[in-house]
Amino acid sequence: MTDLKRALQVEADKVEEVLDHLLQEPEGPEAQVVKAMRYSALGGGKRVRPFLVTASARLFGVSEDSALRVAAALEMVHCYSLVHDDLPAMDDDDLRRGRATCHIEFDEATAILAGDALLTRAFEVLADEATHQDPKVRCELVSELAKASGMNGMVGGQMIDLMAESRELDIPEITRLQRLKTGALIVFACKAGAILGKTGELKRHALRNYGHDLGLAFQIADDLLDVEASVEETGKQVGKDADRGKATFVSLLGVDRAREQAHILSNQACDHLDVFDQGTELLRAMAQYVVNRRS
Ligand code: IPE
Ligand code: IPE
Ligand code: MG
Ligand code: MG
Ligand code: MG
Repeated sequence: MTDLKRALQVEADKVEEVLDHLLQEPEGPEAQVVKAMRYSALGGGKRVRPFLVTASARLFGVSEDSALRVAAALEMVHCYSLVHDDLPAMDDDDLRRGRATCHIEFDEATAILAGDALLTRAFEVLADEATHQDPKVRCELVSELAKASGMNGMVGGQMIDLMAESRELDIPEITRLQRLKTGALIVFACKAGAILGKTGELKRHALRNYGHDLGLAFQIADDLLDVEASVEETGKQVGKDADRGKATFVSLLGVDRAREQAHILSNQACDHLDVFDQGTELLRAMAQYVVNRRS
């Protein structure tokens, strides 16, 4: 196992514990929605975004408890986005992380509510004093995650993504779509450590730029996996983008040029880390992992 794989596993276990603690089932019949939230948020996923939060926070000596709460909040938003992405009205998928999707395991209405409640719980966690003693930091985390998740971030990207099924997009349009749909949350993950550590503009900007390139590379790799990987490897259905006639980097550039582009972006992401004297080894390894992954 590489150092990165080991570190990713260690952080995944820690964030699992925090998520478990933050998503406790209440008494009463409303526990059903929390069951669906726990089903969708626990026990799976690569946990790349939480890893990016804790790895960036470590550069600034941020307390582990703070970083893990932000990591868990971001993972809740990511899981909500997956639950809604899989709904029949969107990608209509029945398999996620090697298991039935939330609306198959529960039902559509419960999946919609579980997504809604994961999203709102994330902001409740960020706003809580336990996340950071400085209210300005908490406010900035809330504001930045809201921007990254909403109309000018992930949701905006998902809207364009749906339109990409019925309209030809060119490379600049696909780039923008991917940066919004996937890039924005990954940029937040990388910037979160700098926000928590109240660091200066130079380092914050470097992490933002790293996330910007990493996020796009990450989605190109996802589109490549949809063409090249198996259901067993990815834990989700494959070949769906082509079936739906969805414009992606791969449909426009072909497999080889898309892969080349992902590698260029991954190297470029690492170049932004040069402003740090030390401590960036795992972030650099992550940039390689993101484009070489098989799941
Ligand atoms: C899948 O994200 C959806 C995209 C934004 C490409 P991940 O590949 O991070 O999925 P999990 O969290 O590991 O299941
Ligand atoms: C989804 O992109 C990105 C989200 C914001 C959830 P995809 O639709 O390509 O993700 P997968 O392939 O279903 O994981
Ligand atoms: Mg989708
Ligand atoms: Mg999908
Ligand atoms: Mg995909």
